[in-house]
Amino acid sequence: MGKDKLRRFAAVKDYPNFFEPTIGEVSDMKGKWSEHFGNDHPIVLELGCGKGEYSVGLSRHYPEKNFIGVDIKGARMYIGATEALEEGLTNVAFCRTKIDFINDTFADNEIDEIWLTFSDPQPNKPNKRLTSPNFIEKYRRILKKGGIVHLKTDSDLLFEYTTEEIKEKGYEELLVNWDLYNEMGENLDQMTKDIFHIKTHYEKLFTSRGSVIKYCKFRIS
Ligand SMILES: C[S@@+](CC[C@H](N)C(=O)[O-])C[C@H]1O[C@@H](n2cnc3c(N)ncnc32)[C@H](O)[C@@H]1O
Repeated sequence: MGKDKLRRFAAVKDYPNFFEPTIGEVSDMKGKWSEHFGNDHPIVLELGCGKGEYSVGLSRHYPEKNFIGVDIKGARMYIGATEALEEGLTNVAFCRTKIDFINDTFADNEIDEIWLTFSDPQPNKPNKRLTSPNFIEKYRRILKKGGIVHLKTDSDLLFEYTTEEIKEKGYEELLVNWDLYNEMGENLDQMTKDIFHIKTHYEKLFTSRGSVIKYCKFRIS
């Protein structure tokens, strides 16, 4: 790890909005995230949040919801965690863990929604895709009944795979959009448009290369 990454990683560990459960052990936070936020507002996860632009952006739009960005890269989450602290956003936190161990960190029925933002498409390892059955089963446990999964991606492969999984596994398809910014539709309210326009680091990178952004949302229970 480079010097700056090490500095950021060390600094973020002392932040009040950053959590780092021991991987492979049940976290003290499991079932207690509402206590951290000091309210019983809905909790939304962003899995593979990177620098946390979506978690921070959503927390500004929805003060009545709580957001937790999850990633294994602490030095990346430092960016979002610092921004949230400087802005006084108390409804967003970050958690460094592997998504594979999400059931050690969040209790059954603790979560209301999950966002997957520009997840790695894992071309050669379908079982590692964040919308593969292996992960969906983990999400099913932590999501409340009727909880929603959102996927925003540049990847045709991941999007096609996910939309096929929705059909094959009988998840409830709520919206599938193969060209989000061109087909957003006039009937969306301004708030929803503003949310879609939150741009993560990877979204900016991929759109600068001409990628078309895709979005779907579905229910798994
Ligand atoms: C392509 S980046 C996208 C980051 C961010 N969402 C964005 O749009 O800029 C994928 C992120 O997912 C994280 N990630 C991938 N697999 C993971 C896993 N199994 N557990 C935790 N984080 C993971 C990586 O560390 C990386 O930050």
